[in-house]
Amino acid sequence: MDHQTTKIYEELKTKIRGVLPESLLPDFELQAKASLVKEIRELKKQKNAVILGHNYMEPVLFYTVPDFRGDSLALSKRAAETNADIIVFCGVGFMAETAKILNPTKKVLIPSQKAGCSLAEGIKAEDVRWLKKQFPGLPVVTYINTYADVKAETDVVCTSGNAVKVVEWACKEFGTKSVIFLPDKYMAENIANETNRKIYFPNKNNLTDTPNYKNVPTIIGWNARCYVHEQYTVDHVKDLRSSFPGVEILAHPECPPDVVKVSDFSGSTSNMVEYVEKHGLNKKIALLTECSMADNILANHPEVNNNLIRMCNLRCKYMNTITLEQTRDALLHEQYEVNVSEDIRKRALLSVTRMLQIG
Ligand code: 13P
Ligand code: SF4
Repeated sequence: MDHQTTKIYEELKTKIRGVLPESLLPDFELQAKASLVKEIRELKKQKNAVILGHNYMEPVLFYTVPDFRGDSLALSKRAAETNADIIVFCGVGFMAETAKILNPTKKVLIPSQKAGCSLAEGIKAEDVRWLKKQFPGLPVVTYINTYADVKAETDVVCTSGNAVKVVEWACKEFGTKSVIFLPDKYMAENIANETNRKIYFPNKNNLTDTPNYKNVPTIIGWNARCYVHEQYTVDHVKDLRSSFPGVEILAHPECPPDVVKVSDFSGSTSNMVEYVEKHGLNKKIALLTECSMADNILANHPEVNNNLIRMCNLRCKYMNTITLEQTRDALLHEQYEVNVSEDIRKRALLSVTRMLQIG
């Protein structure tokens, strides 16, 4: 190894050995990763590229190559601000597409073509058009975990970090008590609970019992779910509480509503990180979310080791397709380029910009 690779390797060892011991990541592999990191950093400089890394990236990648790390909201803001010529999105497809919507003249790359999302795949633009016909006058709030053509049919986008705020904004702006909220069934129910609204899921084949949504505050939802977060159950929470008395349980809002109800806190991935940073020294904390998150927190905060309970079996298969090798290849071959047709992009931009203005 040359001097620079050795330095990266030593830094990596210090950072992640508490999370990934030699039995999980042998030394020779860590050395190979250090050499890839060096290559990626050089390519980044040569090509004036910026790398954005979502909180669910695996710890070695997460702490070495992204210029910015965070949740979907923070990364959208970064994507809107960058001066780089190339944006490499170490996250999933809808995130890279959002970056392209905001930066039409820049080259946006996603390192894997398999980085999808079960929520984004759970709704189509024609579904949104159908909903708008059934519930005329209602604003459409769409979770960022959707593709550009769906965002184009939408009044305003939100993320898990600002969903309630955006729903309240939409009602005020459009002068309604109710909204259409898409596509996450559980997030819709969680928002309905938090904002004291009724929930209604229309069925395309049978539209009976349509609620009195003009007078009664209602969330009209859809039936897509995150295949990772839907696996958490109330029994997980009960088991955690009986095994670790006093534990505080943090649940991502994509978790089922009965799970969120019995948890102590619900927020975006970055909200969870902040919570652990604030309380992790004094309390036991368990995270009900994708499992790399806890690895990343622990790598950065070894002092919370005894208090952070990692649920290590729920890894998002889509996020998992993004590796250092693929990121190097993305820069080297400028692949896989994300494109959005100009008509769709312009319409989607309006709903994304509204969200960024709301904050
Ligand atoms: P965050 O916006 O909270 O990072 O969530 C994105 C996501 O895909 C969660 O599964
Ligand atoms: Fe999509 Fe769920 Fe994976 Fe997040 S964790 S990218 S919502 S499938």
